[in-house]
Amino acid sequence: MKVFILLALSTLMLLEAYRFTDETDRQALLEFKSQVSEGKRDVLSSWNNSFPLCRWKGVRCGRKHKRVTLLDLNGLQLGGVISPSIGNLSFLISLNLSDNSFGGTIPREVGNLFRLEHLDMSLNFLKEGIPVGIYNCSRLAEFSLFSNNLGKGVPSEIGSLRKLVVLDLGQNDLRGKLPASLGNLTSLMEVSFTTNNIEGEIPDDIARLTQMVALQLSANKFSGVFPPSIYNLSSLSFLNIFGCGFSGNLRPDFGHLLPNLEHIYMGGNYFTGAIPITLPIISNLQVLGMEDNNLRGSIPPSFGQVPNLQSLNFRANQLGSRSFGDLDFLGALTNCSQLQVVDVGENWLRGDLPNSIANLSRNLMYLSLQTNFISGSIPHDIGNLISLQSLRLNLNLLTGPLPTSVGKLLGLEELSIHSNRLSGEIPSSIGNITRLVYLYLSNNSFEGTIPLSLGKCSQLLDLQIGYNKLNGTIPQEIMVIRSLTTLSMSHNYLSGSLAKDVGRLQNLVRLSVSANKLSGELPQTLGNCFSMEFMYLQGNLFDGAIPDIKMLVGVKEVDLSNNNLSGSIPGYIANFSSLQYLNLSINNFEGMVPTEGKFQNSTIVLLFGNKNLCGGIKELKLKPCIAVAPLMETNHLSLLKKVVIGVSVGIAFLLLLFIVSLCWFIKRKKNQKTNNSAASTLESFHEKISYGVLQNATDGFSSSNIVGSGSFGTVFKALLPTENKIVAVKVLNMQRRGAMKSFMAECVSLKDIKHRNLVKLLTACASIDFHGNEFRALIYEFMPNGSLDMWLHPEEVEEIRRPSRTLTLLERLNIAIDVASVLDYLHVHCHEPIAHCDLKPSNTLLDDDLTAHVSDFGLARLLLKFDQESFFNQLSSAGVRGTIGYAAPEYGMGGQPSIHGDVYSFGVLLLEMLTGKRPTNELFGDNFTLHS
Ligand SMILES: *[C@@H]1O[C@H](CO)[C@@H](O)[C@H](O)[C@H]1NC(C)=O
Ligand SMILES: *[C@@H]1O[C@H](CO)[C@@H](O)[C@H](O)[C@H]1NC(C)=O
Ligand SMILES: *[C@@H]1O[C@H](CO)[C@@H](O)[C@H](O)[C@H]1NC(C)=O
Ligand SMILES: *[C@@H]1O[C@H](CO)[C@@H](O)[C@H](O)[C@H]1NC(C)=O
Ligand SMILES: *[C@@H]1O[C@H](CO)[C@@H](O)[C@H](O)[C@H]1NC(C)=O
Ligand SMILES: *[C@@H]1O[C@H](CO)[C@@H](O)[C@H](O)[C@H]1NC(C)=O
Repeated sequence: MKVFILLALSTLMLLEAYRFTDETDRQALLEFKSQVSEGKRDVLSSWNNSFPLCRWKGVRCGRKHKRVTLLDLNGLQLGGVISPSIGNLSFLISLNLSDNSFGGTIPREVGNLFRLEHLDMSLNFLKEGIPVGIYNCSRLAEFSLFSNNLGKGVPSEIGSLRKLVVLDLGQNDLRGKLPASLGNLTSLMEVSFTTNNIEGEIPDDIARLTQMVALQLSANKFSGVFPPSIYNLSSLSFLNIFGCGFSGNLRPDFGHLLPNLEHIYMGGNYFTGAIPITLPIISNLQVLGMEDNNLRGSIPPSFGQVPNLQSLNFRANQLGSRSFGDLDFLGALTNCSQLQVVDVGENWLRGDLPNSIANLSRNLMYLSLQTNFISGSIPHDIGNLISLQSLRLNLNLLTGPLPTSVGKLLGLEELSIHSNRLSGEIPSSIGNITRLVYLYLSNNSFEGTIPLSLGKCSQLLDLQIGYNKLNGTIPQEIMVIRSLTTLSMSHNYLSGSLAKDVGRLQNLVRLSVSANKLSGELPQTLGNCFSMEFMYLQGNLFDGAIPDIKMLVGVKEVDLSNNNLSGSIPGYIANFSSLQYLNLSINNFEGMVPTEGKFQNSTIVLLFGNKNLCGGIKELKLKPCIAVAPLMETNHLSLLKKVVIGVSVGIAFLLLLFIVSLCWFIKRKKNQKTNNSAASTLESFHEKISYGVLQNATDGFSSSNIVGSGSFGTVFKALLPTENKIVAVKVLNMQRRGAMKSFMAECVSLKDIKHRNLVKLLTACASIDFHGNEFRALIYEFMPNGSLDMWLHPEEVEEIRRPSRTLTLLERLNIAIDVASVLDYLHVHCHEPIAHCDLKPSNTLLDDDLTAHVSDFGLARLLLKFDQESFFNQLSSAGVRGTIGYAAPEYGMGGQPSIHGDVYSFGVLLLEMLTGKRPTNELFGDNFTLHS
């Protein structure tokens, strides 16, 4: 009987429970469905009245009471809003709506779900903050609102979710500070606030969360030092504080306090001081990322004793002594058989690359030692590192060859060894690395030819082998690598022609073969490289016409200067809307220059040094095209027009005649007035002043009269008795090779140019000295205030000549403007552009009132007359390349003088005037220059 009553009762209860299901949960879910839009069709079709509730998609019920306990709609592409009716599912334990497209806000009715233990609404588009109602869910153990768009702060009520084990509020827009009440969530094991805008310091209260295993705070705007409370979380195995904005030193006993860490991500902060010496005692350490901080000191070799170490990243710190022995840790790491990543690039490590790196783990996939002071050579057995995918040794001081064994690195995708001092040939085994995507060998001293085998690297995107000593031709094989987007081979000794297969490279964005010895016509197929944006073919021996490049509408920069190209300039270029730079100067182009589109802007189009071009806008300073056009059309002109033109031309001619005679008359008068002290040509000078006169005027070239020394001689102060005038006499050192050329260059340059900021050349002396040797001297205006160099570096000047004060900012500014005006005059306003080629403070002289006068034209070039071959010979035979520190980098590579080179030197001069530091100051090392 009792049993019967019990059975009846329980049946009643079950029925009751079942009735509830229909009445409440079903209604609540149907109401929920009505607010949902289904991305996939009919994904919720089973949610209908003719189908049992507990078998609806994503629904699970309790075994006894048949109420909905679990709702899992993860990743069903649902949209719309979350209905408040969800708060009626009062038996719900787990709610997962993650990875959908729900918008709107989180309904506060979720707070009615007092049985809820798991709540996951991550990866939606929810807005606003976390509704306070949620804090009634006191059984919540797992709570994820990861990657929504929740603004506002983290409310302090969160402290009431006492059972919370997992809390993920990552990737929202949470602001303000973290609430201290977090410290009450003592069951927490995993927390993520990653990628928000949380600021301020981490509350000390989190020190109470001693169960914590994974803490992720990365990418926020915290401040202060490494949170001391974290040192209490001794169970931590995963710590991610990347990019948090923390500063200060790390405690040396770090490893003792947090001995269970396996993954440490502390990059992108402002940590200073040394790497904690106890880090290597963390026996389970697998990943250590401390990149992008300001750590100093050495890298402890004891990392070699961490058995499971997989990744060690100290990139971009200031580690190393900048003296030898910094690389000892690399040898120790050979014990770490799990090692996959080693990145110590961009530090201050100095020393020879140890051969032992070839014995690093065979699992090593990524090795970067780039941008340090590492010398020695690449180990012969580098090919042992068979798992390598990326090898970066660029920007170091490495010498010797690239070992052939590199061809065994079959998985290599990036090989970057540019900007070292490597030599020898590029091993052809490199062609066996068929997965190669990025190959950077530029700026070394590789010689010989480009290996044909490179053609087998069919995945290459970026091939850079410029600034080496490679010769031979460009292999056809390279032109079949269709994936190439950058092909850079400039500044080598490559010869032959540009193969027509170049047209196959339809992904090519950047082609640079400048400063080689390439010749022949440019292939027509160049016009098929539709992706081209940057095309640098300057400084070669190309001839013929510009091929049809009509289709290259996306080009931004084209440089064809310094070749022997001819023909006319294609008009369609005017319509290339992206064009920012077109340099066709120093060629043999001819005919009319367009005046529309891009040709309206003389900063975009450079055309100087093409004798037979005419027309164009007036800033281009080309001769007008008058003769040709009207004459050809005369047949079609009416008699009247002919008469009009005839009369106009006649008048114009008369006018011209009148102006010319007027100028001649004025000039004559002037010459008479100036009493012959400045005749028009130098030839008539040199007889006027003799070696003897100069010897007397300088007390026998006595050292007490030396006021400086230029690139080819010594400058004396001299009193010319006949003129009663103090002058500067530059006596050329004829022993110095190139001195004669320098003398001529200076005479030619200065003969026809006059500017208030140029030193005035008064006369010259070409004679024989008393010992019968050739004697050459140039006589200038004397500049009583010496050179700018003396003013900028008074500590290096003898006491008597030292300036009594420093230059004010305004004076410096005026001097800079003076120099700039000279350059503008030389580059733009002279009959032919002139490059000074040796601009520097010691060539910038100051007169009585500190007006600057640029001097020393020994290296100056009239760009028009210049031809590549003879200049190159002159440079190499004279051993002159401007002055180290001031000369543009391309001069060092055998580049041609250009007005751009002067602008570079001017930039360095400005920097020196503002910093007071010479570009050659000891302060500056290999990668740290005044310029950079
Ligand atoms: C209800 O859902 C079931 C299961 O998906 C389906 O077979 C049935 O056709 C649906 N009924 C209606 C009326 O949509
Ligand atoms: C929840 O259920 C009650 C009673 O069944 C009902 O009156 C109410 O409208 C429901 N709430 C929502 C938001 O659906
Ligand atoms: C933490 O819990 C304690 C005791 O339960 C309570 O007194 C305190 O107010 C809570 N702190 C916060 C910040 O919620
Ligand atoms: C490239 O690989 C082939 C076979 O894999 C091998 O025979 C050849 O010697 C390798 N070439 C070079 C230059 O190492
Ligand atoms: C290329 O350079 C190598 C060494 O630098 C030299 O031996 C060889 O003769 C050169 N070849 C040509 C074609 O100039
Ligand atoms: C000429 O081109 C330069 C560089 O693209 C640009 O800064 C300048 O505004 C242009 N000038 C005119 C007059 O369009």
